Amino acid sequence: MPSVFIKTYGCQMNERDSEAVAAQLVAKGYTLAKSEVTADVVLLNTCSVRDFAEQKAINKMENIVGAARNKKREQIVGFMGCMAQSRGKELLDRLPDVDLVLGTQKFHRAAEYLDELLAGRRSQIVDVAPEAKSEAAIREHLLNGSAKTSVSAFVSIMQGCNQHCTFCIVPATRGEERSRTIPDVVDECRELVSRGVKEITLLGQIVTSYGRRGMSPAQPEPAAATGEPRLASRSAFVQLLDAVHEIDGLARIRFTSPHPKGYGDDLVAAYARLPKLCETAHLPLQSGSDRILKLMHRGYTREKFVAIIEKLRQAKPGIGITTDIIVGFPGETEEDFEQTLSLCREVQFDNAYIFKYSPRRDTPAADMPDQVPQTIREERNERLLNLVNEIAARKYDEFIGRRVEILVEGPSKKNAARYTGRTRCNRIVLFDGSARHQGQLMEVKIERTGSFTLYGDPAILE
Ligand code: 5AD
Repeated sequence: MPSVFIKTYGCQMNERDSEAVAAQLVAKGYTLAKSEVTADVVLLNTCSVRDFAEQKAINKMENIVGAARNKKREQIVGFMGCMAQSRGKELLDRLPDVDLVLGTQKFHRAAEYLDELLAGRRSQIVDVAPEAKSEAAIREHLLNGSAKTSVSAFVSIMQGCNQHCTFCIVPATRGEERSRTIPDVVDECRELVSRGVKEITLLGQIVTSYGRRGMSPAQPEPAAATGEPRLASRSAFVQLLDAVHEIDGLARIRFTSPHPKGYGDDLVAAYARLPKLCETAHLPLQSGSDRILKLMHRGYTREKFVAIIEKLRQAKPGIGITTDIIVGFPGETEEDFEQTLSLCREVQFDNAYIFKYSPRRDTPAADMPDQVPQTIREERNERLLNLVNEIAARKYDEFIGRRVEILVEGPSKKNAARYTGRTRCNRIVLFDGSARHQGQLMEVKIERTGSFTLYGDPAILE
């Protein structure tokens, strides 16, 4: 049987999609190749969120195709995911040797299309058409793929986004919001738990909009499906959290990404109410300036954002809060940028991912006046990075001497004598462990910190 190598760019949703495609192919008899050099099939699962990510995947494909040609090697190569969706057939103009272009609603067709290509029945396939119910098609898991995945798994609960932030290409690559039903998601989670999974991260481009649109009426209504009385005050997403929380044997629940706009009181209250829901939140801020937030079409103000953080910290002191920020959005002045700096000082994020604005095709921001010069984007990126890293390091140091619960995921990639786990607030902890620790919830005492890592000592148990 052929071997396949999948390389993934971008977010956790992409990781999850790649895993589902790999699992699907393994079920058909494919083996997983260790590198693109030896594989019969190479798939690049792409990201479009910034130009840099697209260029990386295109360069990689050029290298793969060039190397195969030099060695006169027959290889089937394909793009899938976000860039495949947004560029479609046009990718073949630049790279005519590419055999497959598979859009974001077509992951479940990978095996069927590869069969046709490998058998020579077709020489090139481009499929980026929308497909009804594709949101429910990402469900196979490859739990034995790596030691880590058998403890913790991602579950895709919805696809698409209707928010239309002016900088963002996601509505074009992932389509309209479409949610799976609660019973469908719960079934998948239950199965994972029966296979040994202890922690589940619910995934979607905008999980706080789960179940608001695009659930076909033929499917049961979320509340009815769980047999609970309809609680008007609980959003469909919180109802989903409630339902997943019921699963015996599941220890931890996380989710990503929410939208600050959707962080209602019911969701804040869920942290206090549901013990399995880990005290962590990734809340994309994007900017600390109200003027820029409006231009971005974010739907909240600085004040509203800060109020959500305060509520979360009241409900769950010690909650780990991370964020995404864009610097150099069109029209961003020094004053606007200073608003972002001041908000970061005020909120004290545990970690922040900073992105230099990258104009994306067919997005309103790409045509806005006052595009910020690249040098200024870079300068702001560096200033903000220095600030958020300084705050993050201080927050890490606060852990020294504390006892924390970790879920042990497996041996560390860099040093096999060390084991790695995560705290409930999603910080990585390294400790001297062994195979018997894998999958265990255990307490460790934090001895020291490294860059975005805590070093723990489990000796306190003995
Ligand atoms: N330029 C820069 N960063 C972007 N992001 C999304 N679109 C763009 C863009 N055009 C960032 C946002 C988002 C994260 C996943 O990527 O901060 O939250």
